[in-house]
Amino acid sequence: MASSIVSIINGRPAHGPAAGRVDSPNPSRLADVVAEVTLADAATFAAACAAAKQAQQLWADIPAPVRGRTVAAMSRIVEANKESLARLVTRELGKPYAEALGEVQEIIDTCDFFLGEGRRLYGQTVPSEMPDKQLFTFRVPVGTAAVVTAGNFPVAVPSWYLVPALVTGNTVVWKPAEYAAASAMALFELLQAAGLPEGVLNIVFADGPATFGGLEQALAAGTLDKIGFTGSTAVGARIGELAGRYLQSPCLELGGKNPMVVTPNADLRLAVEGALFSGFGTAGQRCTSLGTVIVHESVHDEFLAQFGAAASAAAVGDPAAEVLYGPMLDQKFASRFEEYLGWIQPHHKILGSSAVGRIGHASPRAGFIGDPEAGLFYHPTIVDGVQADDALFQQETFGPIVGVTTYTGFADAIALANAPGYGLSASIYTNDPREVFGFRRGVSAGMLSVNNSTSGAEAHLPFGGNGKSGNGSRQSGIWVLDQFTRWQAMNWDYSGHLQKAQMDVTEIAADLDFRLKA
Ligand code: UN1
Repeated sequence: MASSIVSIINGRPAHGPAAGRVDSPNPSRLADVVAEVTLADAATFAAACAAAKQAQQLWADIPAPVRGRTVAAMSRIVEANKESLARLVTRELGKPYAEALGEVQEIIDTCDFFLGEGRRLYGQTVPSEMPDKQLFTFRVPVGTAAVVTAGNFPVAVPSWYLVPALVTGNTVVWKPAEYAAASAMALFELLQAAGLPEGVLNIVFADGPATFGGLEQALAAGTLDKIGFTGSTAVGARIGELAGRYLQSPCLELGGKNPMVVTPNADLRLAVEGALFSGFGTAGQRCTSLGTVIVHESVHDEFLAQFGAAASAAAVGDPAAEVLYGPMLDQKFASRFEEYLGWIQPHHKILGSSAVGRIGHASPRAGFIGDPEAGLFYHPTIVDGVQADDALFQQETFGPIVGVTTYTGFADAIALANAPGYGLSASIYTNDPREVFGFRRGVSAGMLSVNNSTSGAEAHLPFGGNGKSGNGSRQSGIWVLDQFTRWQAMNWDYSGHLQKAQMDVTEIAADLDFRLKA
C-alpha cells in the first residue's frame, strides 16, 4: 500500500500550494507504489527555513549535553526499528537487505559518535600575552541548515548531516530525494520521536527548481546559514555558486570516478572480491562505487579473467533475496545508465554477463532471482580496454559498469588514478609499503583504501572529496563539526585598564649574542 507523504514544517503538514505530485515506486516491482508524494513550491521551502530560523535560538539555548541525550535517544529508537527501516529501504530503493541493514547501522554509529559530542563540544582556555586577561574559544552553531540529499543512501548519508547539525545547536530543513520519500519520512519520524521541539527539524519534498528557488529566497531573507548537499557534481557547482554569492561555503559531497590500482604483487583473489563489491554493490550507485580498475599489464589477463568470471557468476535480482545487487534506484537512473552504455566503443571488450543493458525475457541473465520484467534490472558490465580519453574513463557512470585499463610504471598508475579530476575514494591492492605510501602521497582522493575496496567508509573518519568530488568539506567524525559550528574567540580583560595587544606586552631581555666558549 502506498503512503501519502507531505512536507512537515514546524511539526505540521505544510499548507503551501502543492507544486505537483510524484510517486515513489518500488524499483524491483514498479507496480508497487511505495509512496505518493506531494511536492512543495519554492515559497514553502523558504517558509520552512524561516520556521527553522525561528526555532534556532531556543534549541541552541538547550544545554549541549541535553541535546546529546536526544541523540542518544535517536540511536536507541533507530536501533529498535532497524529491521523495519531496512525493509523499507529495500522496498523503496532496491538495496539488498543485508546492505540496507548496514545502512541503518551507519545511522546508529553516527548517533553513537555524536551523542558524546554534547558533553565534549570543547572550546579552549588560552593564555593571554598580558596579565589579568584570559582568552577563550567557543564553538557556536552556524544557525539554520538546509540539507539536500540523494536517495542512494536514503537514510545513512542524511544522518551524517542531521545528527551533527542538531547536536551542535543548529535547526534543519531536510530535502530528501523524492524517489526515497518513504524511507526519508520514516527516518524523520524516528528522529522526531526523540523529542525534538517543533521547527528544529523540518522535512520538505520539492523538485530541483523549487529547491533551488527556495534556497535562493531563504538566503536572500537571511534565514539560511548553511547548505549541505549530496548529489551530482553539476548541481553541486550551482549550489556552490549560489552560496558563494552570500559568502557561504556549503558542505558538498559530489560524484566520484573512483580508481582501484592492482599492482603486480597484489592478492588477485582479494582484488577481484573488492572490485565486485565496489563495482556492482548497490548496482554501482554509490558515490564510492568503483569507476576504473587500473591493473598492471603483467597481471591484467589473470585479473580480468577472474573478475569477468566472478561478475558472470554473481547473483542479481530481488533485493530481498541474497543478491550482489538489485535494481537501479529509480527510472531516471536507469535512463541515464542507458546513456552511459552508449559510450561503449568498438575498441572495448565486454565481460560480466550474457548481454548488455536491461535484463528481461529478451535479454535474460543466468541465475537471475525474481522477475526481471517487473523492475529496473541491468546486466553487470565490465569494459576492458578503456583509454584515458574515453568518456567511460573520464566521467562518473552511476550504475553497474566498471572500466578496466592497464599501466606499466607506478607513476602512470597514479597519473591515471588522478586523471578524471574527481577525488572522493581510491584504492590500491599491493603488498609493497613503498607503493602504499607512494599512492597515498600521489593520489588526490579524500579517502584511500589499501587492500580493500573503494566503498566502505566508517562513520567516524572524515568523508568527502576534492576536485569534481567536492569543495574539500568533510563529513563524519570530529571533522564535520567545522561544517556546523564556527569558532568564536573571546578576550576577557579584568585588569581594570586598557591593555593593548602587541604594545603593552612585557618583554624579557635575552642576550642573543651569547655563544658557548670554544
Ligand atoms: C555515498 O555513496 O554517498 O563507503 C556514501 C560507502 C558508504 C557511504 C557511501 N559507507 O560506500
